[in-house]
Amino acid sequence: MMKDLNEYMREKKGLIDHRLAELLHTEIAQFSRLYEAMNYSLLAGGKRIRPILLLATLEALGKDPVPYLDMACALECVHSYSLIHDDLPAMDNDDLRRGKATNHVVYGEGMAILAGDGLLTFAFELMARQTQLDPAKIAQCIAVFARAAGPAGMVGGQAFDLLSEGNREIGLDGLKLLHRMKTGVIFQAAIDLAAIAGDAVPAQRQCLDTYARQIGLTFQITDDILDFTGDEAVMGKPAGSDAKNNKATYVTIFSLDEARRMAKEAADAACAAVLPLGEPAWFLRDLASYLLVRAN
Ligand code: IPE
Ligand code: IPE
Ligand code: MG
Ligand code: MG
Ligand code: MG
Repeated sequence: MMKDLNEYMREKKGLIDHRLAELLHTEIAQFSRLYEAMNYSLLAGGKRIRPILLLATLEALGKDPVPYLDMACALECVHSYSLIHDDLPAMDNDDLRRGKATNHVVYGEGMAILAGDGLLTFAFELMARQTQLDPAKIAQCIAVFARAAGPAGMVGGQAFDLLSEGNREIGLDGLKLLHRMKTGVIFQAAIDLAAIAGDAVPAQRQCLDTYARQIGLTFQITDDILDFTGDEAVMGKPAGSDAKNNKATYVTIFSLDEARRMAKEAADAACAAVLPLGEPAWFLRDLASYLLVRAN
């Protein structure tokens, strides 16, 4: 069994990138600009952490992840849509993403909004047209995914993020809710989908549920830290975006040291949560440590 985190991520990213590149094509000449805009952001790189997490969770449950590649790609489509919209002038107003000019800078705001809409909707087509799962499970997966991405999840979190700009009073509870919703729920969805597809038993579900909460938190605290300390050339997105927009983050509300301490606490809790899953969950544990030291 492969044991090197970087090698594992490279291999899984290769599978995901290859499949993503096959997905979005049109025969209709008048639609080609829209498809170009969608593929521009979707295929621009990115770490592919959410789809890798789905595949790794299936492996932690002793399942072959390859039949679930489209499910993983659906997660990445939703994530890429969320980035396109997050960067719009009406939201974070950023001009660099995944090392390239943001979608609206290249294609204009209208087309960027539509490229996001297209990726979001297409993700659900991908989920619904899977044939390797029985229809009841597909319906369950779609419901879980929709709830995570929608107004009770990520969209709600992004709305709260906008409303929290300039508000230093949101406190730890507010920050936890913000991070859980704008980022954590999609990590949770990656793991929940794998648990459904992989027939996790209740004890495994419980471990994975705690892991999901803590890994999402680790990820977003580190994102806040990198916004403050990171190198734009390495991250492929602007540093200092949160300060520019007066965002409520772990760094702006607490301090860099406190944020680092909280990220470490979350990563340790994530790691501990999946200890009972044993050897097949090695990647899930290593991922927690990697997220603490990542530079992009
Ligand atoms: C960035 O996500 C957006 C957040 C939710 C913080 P990633 O850091 O996973 O971005 P990519 O996919 O690697 O570009
Ligand atoms: C984005 O959070 C969360 C979503 C896209 C849902 P951020 O605004 O912190 O992400 P970055 O830092 O721009 O990647
Ligand atoms: Mg944002
Ligand atoms: Mg942003
Ligand atoms: Mg950020």
